[in-house]
Amino acid sequence: MNFDEIIDRRHTNCMKWDAMQQFYGVSPDTGLAMWVADMDFRPPPAVTKALQAEIEHGVHGYFGDESAHKAAICNWMQKRHQWELDPEWIRTVHGLVAGVALCLQAFTQPGDGIILFTPVYHAFARTIKANQRQVVESPLKLDAQGLYRMDLTGLTQQLTGQEKMVILCSPHNPGGRVWSVDELNELADFCLKHDLLLVSDEIHHDLVFKGYQHAVMPLAAPQIRQRLIMLTATTKTFNIAGGLTGNAIIENPELRQQFSQAMLAAGSSPNRFGVLVSTAAYAEGEAWLEALLEYLEGNRRFFDAGIEQIKGFKSMHLEATYLAWVDCSATGLSPQQVIDKVQKEAGIAVSYGSTFGSGGETYLRFNLATPRSRIAQALERLQAVFN
Ligand SMILES: Cc1ncc(COP(=O)(O)O)c(C=O)c1O
Repeated sequence: MNFDEIIDRRHTNCMKWDAMQQFYGVSPDTGLAMWVADMDFRPPPAVTKALQAEIEHGVHGYFGDESAHKAAICNWMQKRHQWELDPEWIRTVHGLVAGVALCLQAFTQPGDGIILFTPVYHAFARTIKANQRQVVESPLKLDAQGLYRMDLTGLTQQLTGQEKMVILCSPHNPGGRVWSVDELNELADFCLKHDLLLVSDEIHHDLVFKGYQHAVMPLAAPQIRQRLIMLTATTKTFNIAGGLTGNAIIENPELRQQFSQAMLAAGSSPNRFGVLVSTAAYAEGEAWLEALLEYLEGNRRFFDAGIEQIKGFKSMHLEATYLAWVDCSATGLSPQQVIDKVQKEAGIAVSYGSTFGSGGETYLRFNLATPRSRIAQALERLQAVFN
């Protein structure tokens, strides 16, 4: 496991590097890709081994038996998150954005309000709108330590009765909050009080830094279990996002039946390669993950120290995820001027804060899951352009 190795991802049909020119006008030959959330690292060796065995065998027909995959998920959840779950509760979906879309289609109607705590992962709002539901934004507030907090009092005053569902990102992207058990309980009680379903997207559940403990929603707030749809995946943890495979975990049999019906309506069944890599990663990827977390923690520290040297830039303290959230409001420049400088002068492709919804406008999101030498390059460029 050498996370310092520079792996050239150009010309591999890779979104992060091969589409950066198109989306950001930054050349992959001279620029740095720090946007979409995948890592510039190889996955655990067990993943590559499983794919090699598949190629050796050479026949890649329909996938049939999900028992090993589900057993690997249960085992991981039990071991890493102390959660005992029944494999029967799991439905395999084509990634968690697809999982969110299926939740919307299974449990809500066009025009229904779906609550998001913004700024938040941009695909939620996109998927809600594409399904003709209404996005209800509840802006996160900054506490005295500069960390995001949900404002349920403010949200209560916003409610119109049209709201049917809350989508929580836990841990939070962007901003990297690991919600406390108290915060999760308050949200669960809020959902029960206002008759809302809770979708908890926990895709970043394994990417948590030392000193923080992610609590899975059903353990943190058991009172919500019958109104909860948990979304989890191996894809962020092990850098196998191209496998587009995730889990919708639903304990309530009626909700599960409704979700299965939505899957049927969408003609959805598991992808052989996604399940293969996912099973291998959960079964044998733990040591790799521990090494990764240490490396990412080093990157986070290194990046934050460098950002502190840039006038007007402020990095939020990440408790989880490899997605640094940097406020540029104190530069005195408009968000567009900052973006222009980052892209055109520093040659770095980053995610724009405004795409994450209200509250994100003055921020940029930098993906730190890359060899440290690249982060050093990015910092040098930013310092040269902004100082
Ligand atoms: C919170 C969250 N959910 C879902 C996804 C994407 O999920 P998938 O690739 O499984 O569709 C991301 C990717 O960054 C994410 O941050």
